[in-house]
Parts: sequence; C-alpha cells; structure tokens
Amino acid sequence: KLQKEVDVIKKEFTISKEVLQKITNHFVSELDKGLSKKGGNIPMIPGWVLDFPTGDETGDYLAIDLGGTNLRVVLVKLRGNRKFDTTQSKYSLPENIRTATSDELFTFIADCLKKFVQQEFPNGVSEPLPLGFTFSYPASQNSINEGILQRWTKGFDIKGMEGKDVVPMLQDAIKHFHVPIEVVSLINDTTGTLVASMYTDSETKMGLIFGTGCNGAYYDVVGAIPKLEGRVDTDVNDDTPMAINCEYGAFDNEHLVLPRTKYDIQIDKESPRPGQQSFEKMISGYYLGEVLRLILLDLASKGLILKDQDLENLKKPFILDTSFPAEVEEDPFEHLPNVKVLVKKFLNLDVNLEERQLIRCLAELIGERSSRLSICGIAAICKKRGYKTAHCAADGSVFNKYPGFKERAAKGLRDLFEWSDDQEDPIIIVPAEDGSGAGAAIIAALTQARLKKGL
Ligand code: BG6
Ligand code: GLC
Repeated sequence: KLQKEVDVIKKEFTISKEVLQKITNHFVSELDKGLSKKGGNIPMIPGWVLDFPTGDETGDYLAIDLGGTNLRVVLVKLRGNRKFDTTQSKYSLPENIRTATSDELFTFIADCLKKFVQQEFPNGVSEPLPLGFTFSYPASQNSINEGILQRWTKGFDIKGMEGKDVVPMLQDAIKHFHVPIEVVSLINDTTGTLVASMYTDSETKMGLIFGTGCNGAYYDVVGAIPKLEGRVDTDVNDDTPMAINCEYGAFDNEHLVLPRTKYDIQIDKESPRPGQQSFEKMISGYYLGEVLRLILLDLASKGLILKDQDLENLKKPFILDTSFPAEVEEDPFEHLPNVKVLVKKFLNLDVNLEERQLIRCLAELIGERSSRLSICGIAAICKKRGYKTAHCAADGSVFNKYPGFKERAAKGLRDLFEWSDDQEDPIIIVPAEDGSGAGAAIIAALTQARLKKGL
C-alpha cells in the first residue's frame, strides 16, 4: 500500500519535458498579458530604471535589502570600470516581524541603519547619504522613489501596509531616528540582481531570485509595454529600456497549467493569501519543507509510516524549513544516518531505514520539481525577448545552498530547449554579483545622474 502511494507521489512530482514546454508556452503569453493595459495574473511591474548600467558609474551609496529572512545594510563603493566594493552588516529579522506592525518593522530597519551609519561613519557625514531601498515584495511604482505594496508574499502579513507607499514610511522612521539618509530609489531584489550583474557582465539578460520567494526581472522596451501609455515623460521613446519586475511567483494563479498536487492546494488554502503566488508556492524555499511535512503527515495519518509515534511536531505547520530537505539530500551515507539525526532534531521522531529512504526520495522529488519548474520563468523571458544566448544572474538561498539545484536547473533548460549533447548550453544560469545591495546602489547612481541631467 505504501509503495502504491509513493508511486502516485512520484508520478505527480515528476515534470516531463513536454510539461515544461507547455508551461513555458503559457508563461510567455502570461508575461505579455501582464504588460497589456488590461493586465493579467503576473503583475509585470515597470521598475522605472530607464538606463542600462555602463559599469562606469561611481560614488558611495547606502543600500538596504529587506528580504525574506534578513535585513542587510550595505555600503557600496562604485569604483567604475565594472568594479565595486561592498561593506555590509546582516541583521536577522526578529521572529515575529512577519506579523508585526508597520511601526515595528520600520523602527527595526531605522535602528539597524543608525547602528550601521555610526559604525561606518564615526565622524558623521557632511551631506545626507543617498540610499537605495531593495524591497522584495510586489510594489507598484509610478516613479523610482515610490513603492505601493500590492500585497504581501512569502508569509508576511503586516496589517495596514497593502495599498500604501512604503518609501515615506521608511523616510519617516529614518527622520525620527535622526539618521542622515535620503531614500532616492526603491527597487525589487530581482531588479537589483539584474542591474548589479549587468554592471560586471554585459551578457546578463535577467536577474533571478530562487530563495524564500522566486521571481525574475529583465529589461523590456517602453514601446512593448502597452500599459505605460500616457505614463511616461516626453524624453522617453519606444526604444527606451525599462526594467520590469515580473513578480512571476504569481504565474498561473488561474491554475491552468501547473501540475498542482493536493499538498500544494492545501498549502495555498492555509496561507494568509490563498489564490496568490501559485507558482512560488510550488517551488520557493519558504514552502519546500512544508510540502515534505504535508506528505509525511498524510502517509503517517494513513498508518503507512511512523507507526505508533507521537506526531505532535509533524503536525506543526512550517516546522521544517528548507534546510531540512536540503540536509536530507546531502547525507552522503547509504544508511542515511544524518537523516536519522535530522528527523529526531526537527520532529522528535525515530525513523527506520525504510522511512529514511522514503524521506530522502521525497526530498529529491521536491527539490527536483522545484528546480525544473523554476526554469520555466527563465525560458519564457528568453522566448519572449528572442534571446538565443543569455547569462541569467541568480541569487537566493535555494540557488546558493540547495544541493543539486543548479545542476537540475541546467538539465531542465537542456531538456526544455532540446539542445544537443555536443552543444554548449547557450542559456546559462550564473551566480549573481553580490545581489541586490549593489544593484540598489547602481540604480541610485543612475537615478541621480538622470536628476542632474534634469530628466
Ligand atoms: C540575497 C539577495 O542574496 O538573496 C537579496 O541579495 C534577496 O536581495 C535574497 O532578497 C533572497 O534570498 P532569500 O533566500 O533570503 O529569500
Ligand atoms: C516574492 C516577492 C518578490 C521577490 C521574490 C524573491 O516573490 O513577491 O518581490 O522578488 O519573492 O525574493
């Protein structure tokens, strides 16, 4: 009976080449839809970065990066000649911050900024420091220094912020704490990744995050974005580049092509925003451990595994973060002793060899599904823009730390595009250049250069 259940799970979690191709084709039309006046599921948010970085931008900038697990404060020194240096401090987000108040969130950020500035500039500063704010949530923009939060993602649920501009909230908190900083730009982490990587590698075609959430950004041209009509200045023409934060974690919220399992459906139903981020909920780090937990709980409730054991911990939502399946996959020994220790640590359960092998097999299925589905966003952007070759700059904890993610993603692209074995992969995923902190700084520099030119 257990084998039968496992076979079904295997089948449901395996993504064939044909399915990848079908998803990608639908993805391309959804990207287009998102740019139309009417809009679609994928927000396709114009980021108001209207220039490509040249690699020659210079100056000192501060950047903050509010991601899923950390707040990073970065001092970026752009040296020109495609080089930059960064000094950064990482502050882990307080545990309850996902559901705190906006006051608590911005007080925390301003406090971290104050500490950082005091540490880096002990003698004070003569002029306010320009700051680029990387805000890794969907935020609508009519200009570069605005970000109206559309909705929270990745389990965040701070009341009263959706529909509001987060830039004045940050600026007010900074003022309150008397920190000499001026917020000049707000960007998404994917846009930051795109621009930072382009600064050092001109072959970069997109910025991607595979982390707590998943998303991508690329440059389109103003003329190909119908929903911009009437919203651009006169100096902008059809060929002017425009960075687009796709927010493609929201791909297929209509549930037309993604092969969702009952576990994905349950995760969605029990999340603070059901019906949102369908793609992200199947592949990003915030959810991978939870999928595994739900499968184990399902099999245990049917009496097929973990017989006569106390399932109290296994019943706790989100008790398994992504490090769990990641470490399960990393156990190098045939008898999986590390899995035994991990399961004891996280779930307080004792697992026999067969159960350990099952957990390993499930982690592999979940990890493999995540990486194969992830590349559909990359393939869709390439198809949409007609890129035959591309460097796709990627960052985030899943990309950097999940075992096998990079190899599986590369294999997924090979399958999908049917490249022959003797051909070098023309589209490759490359590690991003210190992510979005530097990107925020470069964008702040581009913004200041535009302002100086009176644009
Ligand atoms: C970082 C990027 O390394 O990855 C951030 O610089 C980004 O901008 C983050 O938000 C995403 O990863 P995770 O795993 O923290 O969500
Ligand atoms: C979520 C956010 C998005 C971000 C991504 C990666 O999808 O909505 O803005 O880019 O996570 O951090």
